[in-house]
Amino acid sequence: MTNSLAPDFVHRFEPGPDPAAPPLLLLHGTGGDEADLLPLGRALSPGSALLSPRGPVLENGMPRFFRRLAEGVFDEADVRRRAADLAAFVAQARVAYGLAAPVAVGFSNGANIAAATLLLHPEALAGAVLLRAMVPLAEAPPADLVGRPVLLLSGAFDPIVPAENAERLAAGLERAGARVTHTVNPAGHGLSQADLSAAGPWLARNFGR
Ligand code: MLT
Repeated sequence: MTNSLAPDFVHRFEPGPDPAAPPLLLLHGTGGDEADLLPLGRALSPGSALLSPRGPVLENGMPRFFRRLAEGVFDEADVRRRAADLAAFVAQARVAYGLAAPVAVGFSNGANIAAATLLLHPEALAGAVLLRAMVPLAEAPPADLVGRPVLLLSGAFDPIVPAENAERLAAGLERAGARVTHTVNPAGHGLSQADLSAAGPWLARNFGR
């Protein structure tokens, strides 16, 4: 069922059959929607509740989570505003659906808003799987992410995210105290089987019973 809870966040919610499994906040890439990552969420953590909003910004008709000026060049004021909106949506959804703080699973633009939300609103997320993420803000305020598990999965042949940029993101999250695992797979910007093979067990290890 597609619901509308907070303004601007059309979303899907699937209750989790296993109350001990972490709720997942699924954040799609540019041009995706709230249905996109549901199969990924089910595959990565079969017992988890799934909360999947649609990006509220349109770029030539394609949903995104924040505005950009060009590929890889972000409207940082909009990043900040949209990360605050997403954190508020998560807080409302947690009350409405009775959820613990979710683990974000974001791909591309969705991974970038997840990284921004971690840095700007650390209380919103229990951790994150960031698939093909890049640095969302040139300068982020000091965040307290002590002990928060973050898995960053990059592609060695990604034409959108330079290796140096992903390394800088990992270093920034580590400086904030996050427990970062950064793996570079032999892949491009798209997801590969190696991402699934890494993310499922990582979720179970870090958020399982
Ligand atoms: C972004 O705009 O967030 C990144 O360039 C990734 C993308 O969506 O292509």
